[in-house]
Amino acid sequence: MQASIYTVYGPPEVLKVLKTERPVPQNHEVLIRVHAATVNRTDCAMLRAKPFIMRFFTGLFNPKNHILGTDFAGVVAKVGEDVTAFKPGDKVFGFEDTGLSSHAEFMCINQAKAIAIIPDNLSFEEAAASLEGSHYALNMINKVDHLKDKNVLINGATGAIGSAAVQLSKFYGANITAVCNTKNIELVESLGANTIIDFSQEDFTQIDTKFHY
Ligand SMILES: NC(=O)c1ccc[n+]([C@@H]2O[C@H](COP(=O)([O-])OP(=O)(O)OC[C@H]3O[C@@H](n4cnc5c(N)ncnc54)[C@H](OP(=O)(O)O)[C@@H]3O)[C@@H](O)[C@H]2O)c1
Repeated sequence: MQASIYTVYGPPEVLKVLKTERPVPQNHEVLIRVHAATVNRTDCAMLRAKPFIMRFFTGLFNPKNHILGTDFAGVVAKVGEDVTAFKPGDKVFGFEDTGLSSHAEFMCINQAKAIAIIPDNLSFEEAAASLEGSHYALNMINKVDHLKDKNVLINGATGAIGSAAVQLSKFYGANITAVCNTKNIELVESLGANTIIDFSQEDFTQIDTKFHY
């Protein structure tokens, strides 16, 4: 298979599209033919090994894992003999912030990890792009007790994390005040915000309203 490969840390120019061995799924793993994956903050940090602390996870002098990619959308090509949750032909997407080597034609993931069937109304590109922001939004939401009827302020409500935070907070029953700019007011309302603060008109740090989160 072909993959985007790096063997030294550095700028994007160190990445080369090269032939490499197709991974073989272990008993609990699913082999995915990747149709879409993002290049995100984590990939950029792993590529350059910046901040330096990344090297304690990715390799002190050179990267231990030569293929980047933390998310994917694609089709199940083959399953290991103990896999029960997925079958060849399933359209799936998934995320793992420590890396999945998804910048390649094929990758493997354990069926118990964060992998799910893609909803019918999403393309592969949309499915792959929906994951990272939602992951961080959900991580934050999971740190608080209950959102039902709580007043929540979401700054950056049009961003990857913010737009997911608005939708997830709505799902959990929060009363949402979202901060965005004028052109995105309708969009953010459509995602579920109850009140909008237009940051081009008002500074939310100066308002008197108190929020639970
Ligand atoms: N994505 C990640 O993996 C990740 C991980 C850890 C931390 N973070 C950090 O989390 C933050 C959000 O990340 P993201 O990926 O969601 O970013 P993003 O998709 O680039 O979104 C940035 C958001 O900030 C808004 N914004 C820009 N200027 C603003 C202002 N003056 N007042 C209020 N909002 C303003 C943008 O609104 P417009 O639509 O108007 O431009 C947009 O909604 C960033 O600081 C990022 O560094 C991200």
